[in-house]
Amino acid sequence: MSNKKYLYQKTNHFFGQLASGTEKCGMAELKELGATNIKPGYLGVYFCANQRTLYEIVYRTRIFSRLLAPLIVFDCHSDKYLYKTAQNIDWSDFLTLTKTFAVTSNVADSNIRHSQYAGLVLKDAIVDQFRDKTGERPNVDTRNPDLLINLYIHENKARISVDLGGGSLHKRGYRTETVEAPMQETLAASILRLSEWNGERPLYDPFCGSGTLLCEALMKQCNVPAAYLRKKFGFLRLPDFDAAVWNQVKTKANSEISELADGLIKGSDISADALKAVRTNRVALPDGGKIKVRRIDFQSLEGLQNTTIVTNPPYGIRLGDTEDAAALLKEFGDYLKQKCTGCTAFIYYGEVSLVKKLGLKPDWKQPLRSGGLDGFLCKYELY
Ligand SMILES: C[S@@+](CC[C@H](N)C(=O)[O-])C[C@H]1O[C@@H](n2cnc3c(N)ncnc32)[C@H](O)[C@@H]1O
Repeated sequence: MSNKKYLYQKTNHFFGQLASGTEKCGMAELKELGATNIKPGYLGVYFCANQRTLYEIVYRTRIFSRLLAPLIVFDCHSDKYLYKTAQNIDWSDFLTLTKTFAVTSNVADSNIRHSQYAGLVLKDAIVDQFRDKTGERPNVDTRNPDLLINLYIHENKARISVDLGGGSLHKRGYRTETVEAPMQETLAASILRLSEWNGERPLYDPFCGSGTLLCEALMKQCNVPAAYLRKKFGFLRLPDFDAAVWNQVKTKANSEISELADGLIKGSDISADALKAVRTNRVALPDGGKIKVRRIDFQSLEGLQNTTIVTNPPYGIRLGDTEDAAALLKEFGDYLKQKCTGCTAFIYYGEVSLVKKLGLKPDWKQPLRSGGLDGFLCKYELY
């Protein structure tokens, strides 16, 4: 009998979740990392990968927030059937009594109505299977579990998967200090990818906040794997996990990290708290101390030459008043026109009505959703 029990083992098929608007970035990244059969799905992308490529994707992806290995897919019209089918999985393949687990769940357009309830049913099925066999049960840890199980039910079709990262991959581990309205790391990585910045000229963020765009720029430029600082990975709990292959993948990726050229990545912000945060965050990364930051109002900045400006100005919804944000953007537009000729700017707006406040016509405009915001990225060539 084949020892390939689970769906991902039989098919080499996986699923990656990402923010709406970043699908093309994610698909291009998967292709570069060696995935095949890459196809868009609902809020994510299906792909095929062998074991080595899969480990590499989990370690390196900058764009995907979750990567899932499906165990089973089945028609599911009731909670009783969910419980019964989940018990057909031998959970001791993934868990022992000394390891913790948690379930994330998402249900839409199905007989089972509530995501949280469906998650509880699955959790009970796992716990009861252990209790029936051993008299004891593994503990649930929703904050930092060893194994994270994902349940997705759409139109009464259920999929139970292992979360390969063991949690959201946007949490890179460098952002220990933050500011109001920080940008998600995966969104910052998508923006940098769309900017096509390749390190040939300096990059500057005049509203750097906690430094997410600057840190992601360093990681991209210096080939730092996105999960370089990550302590736990969900794929370590798969029954066919191969430690030797994982070590080879990690060692190779880490050996490709390069140095950051002095002065290549710089930023500034008006807020003392933001400067404190970015100074703390940058040093978690190799060569992070070489990211240059200072506290200054953008209006007092000298002009920039031959620079790629990538930034996320205040947008009013969370940061005070939209009118203030609009007035600030008009001033920023004037600064760009008067003092930054020859530069290219990529501006992420958290709110679409702000795009016209800059007073410059974008070369292109692309919707990029993140954290409940209907944001837009615009490109400006400044002649
Ligand atoms: C949306 S936040 C940027 C968040 C950042 N991308 C991050 O991930 O942490 C906007 C930033 O603009 C800064 N800011 C507001 N007015 C400014 C000004 N006049 N000059 C420079 N920075 C300013 C705020 O302090 C805030 O940190």
